[in-house]
Amino acid sequence: MLLLVALGLVARPATSGDQGPTAVEVTPVEGPSTLHHLGLTIEGSSMGWGGQWSPPPSLVPPPQGSDNTARRAFVLNGADLYRISCRACHKPDGSGSPPEINALIGPVQAASFQWMTERMKAMGRPADAAFIRQLTEGTEADLRKRLKVGGHNMPSFDHLSEAEITVLRPYLDEMAGVPGAEHRQRVITEPSARVGELIVKGTCHICHDATGPSNTPTTTVMNDVIPPLASMPHQKTFYQFVQKVREGAPIPLSAGGVLSRGRMPVFNYLNASEIASAYSYLSIYPPK
Ligand code: HEC
Ligand code: HEC
Repeated sequence: MLLLVALGLVARPATSGDQGPTAVEVTPVEGPSTLHHLGLTIEGSSMGWGGQWSPPPSLVPPPQGSDNTARRAFVLNGADLYRISCRACHKPDGSGSPPEINALIGPVQAASFQWMTERMKAMGRPADAAFIRQLTEGTEADLRKRLKVGGHNMPSFDHLSEAEITVLRPYLDEMAGVPGAEHRQRVITEPSARVGELIVKGTCHICHDATGPSNTPTTTVMNDVIPPLASMPHQKTFYQFVQKVREGAPIPLSAGGVLSRGRMPVFNYLNASEIASAYSYLSIYPPK
């Protein structure tokens, strides 16, 4: 354990002077994936498709070692928190994939007092401050509640700490074009294990169950296997893992069949250090 602490793989409060330490406890990812929970298939849902099609097998380089991947702590801004928690479903610009995944721009604008006031004025309506405040506070409460308990299909983000939401929230405003939001951006220092946890819970757990049979035959496109998160650190080397996430790794169409790009999107907007955090998080906090 001591070694892991020294390597920064175990969560412990960061000590720099920005947004302050996250004293948040890192917990394992648990239970069925979002798709599994909702009875959806990869092909029948847009969730997770903030990633892109992986390249055809001929274009995928062999896994490579790279340096500078292990990091103790990360300084994340609101855009980073959005990228690792929300982007896989809501796309980089918050547009989502309606009608399944609503755009989050509208509700974020409707929660802004300033935006609503300007909107009312532009429409030639009386901008009664008390009334607008009541409206926007209600919308803000809905938004916070959605993060806590999830939505109809959206999973809960109850694992986000208040400090993290304080950093994420003004970025949503900036994305939605709320005036002055760019001056309210902040950063937070997060231990590596926490970054891994956010990535796994916000992105990988959309499709991958936490646990499950790990003795299934080789994954192929035809047998519809989506390997559980728990088996990954045992079945994949670190480099294979990083490559699967960032560049894709070909898998056979059927047992002994030709290689194909597989069904998993690539998430090349995650960097190698972040994916390294996800790999160590899965090793140190075995999924339940
Ligand atoms: C696994 C996919 C997924 C992820 C990840 C996700 N969402 Fe959603 N989100 C949805 C879906 C689906 C909807 C549409 C409503 C529903 O079914 O719950 C939605 C709707 C919303 C809405 C409401 C839009 C409206 O019209 O009322 C907001 C706000 C929102 N998401 C914010 C977020 C934020 C912030 C994050 C990151 C912390 C996030 N979502 C991560 C799937 C996701
Ligand atoms: C949209 C669904 C989806 C999401 C999101 C997703 N995966 Fe996958 N993943 C798959 C599928 C399907 C496979 C099976 C191989 C294939 O078809 O590409 C797979 C296979 C893998 C494999 C290979 C495992 C093996 O034993 O063959 C690894 C490693 C992996 N995923 C890691 C991740 C990580 C890490 C994340 C989050 C950053 C993630 N995946 C997010 C669908 C997804």
